[in-house]
Amino acid sequence: MDQKGPDTESVSLGHEPSEHLGSLKPPIYETSTFVFDTAEQGKRFFEVTYGLDDAQPGEDFGYIYSRLDSPNTQAAESRLAALESAESALVFNSGMAAISTVFLTYLRPGSKVLYSAPIYGGTSKLLEGLFTEMGVTAAPFTSDTVEQSLRQMAGSDLAMIYLETPANPTNDVFDIEMAARVAHDHEAVLAVDNTFLTPIWQRPLELGADLSIHSATKYLGGHSDLTAGVVCGSEQELAELRHNRYRFGATAQPQTAWLLARSIETVRLRVERQTQNATELAAFLDSHPKVAAVNHLSLLGDSDPRQAIHAKQASGPGAMISFEVVGGEEGAFRFLNAMSLVHLAVSLGGTESLASHPWTMSHSTVSPDEKLSMGVKPGLIRFSVGIEDVADLIADLDQALDVA
Ligand SMILES: Cc1ncc(COP(=O)(O)O)c(C=O)c1O
Repeated sequence: MDQKGPDTESVSLGHEPSEHLGSLKPPIYETSTFVFDTAEQGKRFFEVTYGLDDAQPGEDFGYIYSRLDSPNTQAAESRLAALESAESALVFNSGMAAISTVFLTYLRPGSKVLYSAPIYGGTSKLLEGLFTEMGVTAAPFTSDTVEQSLRQMAGSDLAMIYLETPANPTNDVFDIEMAARVAHDHEAVLAVDNTFLTPIWQRPLELGADLSIHSATKYLGGHSDLTAGVVCGSEQELAELRHNRYRFGATAQPQTAWLLARSIETVRLRVERQTQNATELAAFLDSHPKVAAVNHLSLLGDSDPRQAIHAKQASGPGAMISFEVVGGEEGAFRFLNAMSLVHLAVSLGGTESLASHPWTMSHSTVSPDEKLSMGVKPGLIRFSVGIEDVADLIADLDQALDVA
């Protein structure tokens, strides 16, 4: 089949109705194992799946076991790869399963990883906790770190640069092309957590990253009804990761992968609407007397150095806002408890708006000093903007800010 545009592929790839009794939508293959026609066929599937032999051009393959792959994971992966302009994608059972499989694949005792800060609390805990205990050196850097300083930090044992851009929860922006130059000059990989902007607004592989990672629990899943993760990259880059996913048993279940493939059909529509709502809300918050600061990429001024980086690497500001209410933690809690339409919950990227308190929730395991140095303050609210009527969202924020 000729290659089509990514929006066409995101509703059509990975499923051919005529191969499934005419079923327009893909069936869910709720099975742990697949029956081979012959022993010879089973032998061949194992040889190729476990890398003992290469597949011949045009050779047809079936499935072995759902911990490895299933028709539902492969449908989701083909659609995700099309959106990220990647050769390939791997679906995991959570964002953290994807991230830990990436770290376990590339990091060894003695190797160094430089990571952008702030970063999702779970990722920071993994690097500063388990991986540091295992002898990995994990060093954070902030968005004002210039290329020369990053090169100095890289030293001789750099294995990976890991960026989360824009960062959770402050929307700090990190230069993907610059990080790719530094990583590749050290023969290291660049991995980018692209959860916040999604491939709709940012495609890190086109900017030189080797891996683009998502918590697909967020915008890609989009309905707050699944947990999943994705890693996109070239076939070559994903080969070892794929084997480790098999070994660790981190593959998404068929039902999850089915939900994800379904969601990808509408990701552009949802993200565009959410971003439009977020841009209006950010402008409202920016002018509110009870709000000390607002972080949304639509508000970056031309004199802000982050604006030039954002403009060259992304085509939209996304739908995540964080803002600081006056009155510190107490003010933030009064605000959160007063919301009525917007739910108080962690996670993000769903159709409904959610607000949470990074200081005591998603970043609770990060030390107070570190949080403050990253701009995560006790009064900071993280706001994931949904697809509701924006006037209703503004009214809810307005009344909750009155209480704060
Ligand atoms: C930016 C980012 N990356 C990764 C994760 C982890 O993903 P998951 O919760 O799907 O394991 C999260 C979760 O909030 C996140 O916000």
